[in-house]
Amino acid sequence: MLSNKAVKATLFVSMVTLAGLMPLQASAACDLVSTKDNSPLNIKVVDTDTPEAKEFLTTCVNPYTKLYAADAEKAKAGKKKFGYYSCTQCHGPNGDGQVAVSITDDRWQYAKHATDKGMFETIAGGSNGGMFAWHQQVANNPELVPTDDILKIVGWLRTQYKGGGDKPWLK
Ligand code: HEC
Repeated sequence: MLSNKAVKATLFVSMVTLAGLMPLQASAACDLVSTKDNSPLNIKVVDTDTPEAKEFLTTCVNPYTKLYAADAEKAKAGKKKFGYYSCTQCHGPNGDGQVAVSITDDRWQYAKHATDKGMFETIAGGSNGGMFAWHQQVANNPELVPTDDILKIVGWLRTQYKGGGDKPWLK
């Protein structure tokens, strides 16, 4: 049997360890906000998340953007998701606009769409101007879109950009 003293010492050590780890975890997250009202968008890492999804949720960097810019063959995975979730019905097969706005010109509905984080926030959490919340955690519907698929879609949309000028998402 452990002595009372040993138990106390163990407890103390684990508390100190926990306290040391907590600030680290808190700072290593991408702070997503809703396009509707700027409130925090609560999207957590889940077991099924890919390494790319985990990277984005920690760093706010979409690893697919640079990958797809360099490899048109790989970018097709994003186009496939765009069709699979019927984004095409409003935005057209190539994202150039149909019933809803074009996503491939430089007229952004919200200035933050020039960043992958901002575009992710509108797709994941919706807007006040007619976009649904597509993320499965935000909409509370497992049939909807996981983090990784939104990232693939954004990565592909960037390859379709026809607006000219700077491409801040490649920096
Ligand atoms: C029912 C129609 C509809 C569907 C389906 C739809 N959208 Fe939208 N989308 C809109 C509307 C309307 C807007 C403009 C929103 C605003 O101004 O607030 C928009 C805006 C956007 C924008 C911002 C475009 C810009 O130029 O700034 C992106 C990105 C986007 N949608 C991606 C998607 C993706 C990805 C999907 C599929 C998962 C999708 N949309 C499905 C209607 C739709």
